[in-house]
Amino acid sequence: MTTSRLLIVSNRLPVTVSSDGGEFTVSPSAGGLATGLKGPHEQSGGLWIGWPGDVGNLDDAQRASLDEKLAELRTVPLYLDQEEASRFYEGYSNGLLWPLFHSLVDRIPLESRDWEVYRSVNQRFADLTVAHYRPGDTIWVQDYQLMLVPGMLRERLPSATIGFFLHIPFPSSETFRVLPRRQEILTGLLGADLIGFHTFAYLDLFTRSLMRLLGVEAEVDRVRYAGRNLRLGVFPMGIDAARFSSVSSSPEIIAASAAIRERIAPLRILLGVDRMDYTKGIPRRFLAFERLLEKEPELRGKVEFVQVAVPSRTSVDAYVALKQQVDELVGRINGQYGTITWTPIRYLYRSIPEAQLITLYRAADVMLVTPVRDGLNLVAKEFIASRVDDDGVLVLSELAGAASELGESLRVNPYDIDATAEAMATALALSPEDRKARMSALRRRVHAHDVHQWVAHFLRALDDAATQREPVGGQ
Ligand code: ADP
Ligand code: G6P
Repeated sequence: MTTSRLLIVSNRLPVTVSSDGGEFTVSPSAGGLATGLKGPHEQSGGLWIGWPGDVGNLDDAQRASLDEKLAELRTVPLYLDQEEASRFYEGYSNGLLWPLFHSLVDRIPLESRDWEVYRSVNQRFADLTVAHYRPGDTIWVQDYQLMLVPGMLRERLPSATIGFFLHIPFPSSETFRVLPRRQEILTGLLGADLIGFHTFAYLDLFTRSLMRLLGVEAEVDRVRYAGRNLRLGVFPMGIDAARFSSVSSSPEIIAASAAIRERIAPLRILLGVDRMDYTKGIPRRFLAFERLLEKEPELRGKVEFVQVAVPSRTSVDAYVALKQQVDELVGRINGQYGTITWTPIRYLYRSIPEAQLITLYRAADVMLVTPVRDGLNLVAKEFIASRVDDDGVLVLSELAGAASELGESLRVNPYDIDATAEAMATALALSPEDRKARMSALRRRVHAHDVHQWVAHFLRALDDAATQREPVGGQ
């Protein structure tokens, strides 16, 4: 009997391994791709192929024992050596593609020599996927680190069902054309049967680049390329809303969030939760909070900003500089406005366990999600799903993909510091009825479009696209 399986292929596995003297620690990965797809992977009988993080130098026996541990989670590791980690992951993927796709052109390096390593690591991912592929399997490649993989797979497995999903924005063709290897990236993606985006705006920009840079015309969501039909689609990612609601309703979380509130009463809590990434707008968010304290002196001593930032890409220069900037800002604002009994910003630079995250979501009065650009942003949805009490206010950047879905949030332009400060004040002043009306509408939407529905919707569209791959009547 052949059973078809889902093969997820992404750079980051849902677990990250670190080793200390041959002892492994396996912990959940941060970032929306890993946290979002973790549940669907656990429920499917398939495999997840990806990088387990920097595991250090392992001997053969240690490597075999780690492989076994990962196999129990149905994950297949692809180890990157030091040069690959530095040039494929830090260099090409996160030094060049990440800022470019977020339209932050001034952050791209003067020169990049990492293309060859990007290509060779993509080839390794494709080879490993082919080695695990069985006829009938569905292959689903994820994100900007692996944009050549669909084309490489198509060469080796011409009739395989291959999907691709981009978790970050697609930029305008004026920005995308800056990339020296723009053609190779586009043709790599076109190896898929279906290419998915979070928003219609990203899909639309992608079709413009196809036309201007490859001369390939798309008919809204259909493209003919290299004798094949392929599809483009919009699939805003969801979260496991039922799980967040259920954890948030547990007596332990209710007690823990009540304890936080009691401890700091009568302070009101503003909350930020992000990977420490320059796309997340953390410095501007702090400047807006500083502006709020400056303009509304009666709020001093009455509000506390809790910022949890998980360390991310700590070997990339821009992330080192960001951490320093954030440390300095927190120090400056706390130094200027803090008193013996009140600290305006409480700042945690670490990953925290999910139960603690949900406790904070529940304890917050206002959640600040103010990226300067973000493919979607799952934190906004996690906050909403955790508010089983129908309370709390979400302040959301217009420049996050999720803004088009979450209309009952208070939307802000994160570049406008005054407007962000005003949105914080408005959020703190909303009446309980208004908060409830907004939150219950948001909750309904986040539950109706959860991650399971997202996966099912994408895979159905992929199946359809694969059956229509061959042109009818040789047109
Ligand atoms: P991105 O994918 O760019 O990191 P998202 O908001 O889509 O942004 O996803 C971030 C994910 O990482 C969420 O699932 C969130 O819960 C998790 N996360 C963010 N910060 C922390 C933290 N400090 N500790 C643990 N998990 C975190
Ligand atoms: C974003 C990207 C993911 C990435 C995640 C965490 O969500 O879209 O592909 O996995 O950030 O970043 P990292 O570099 O740690 O994998």
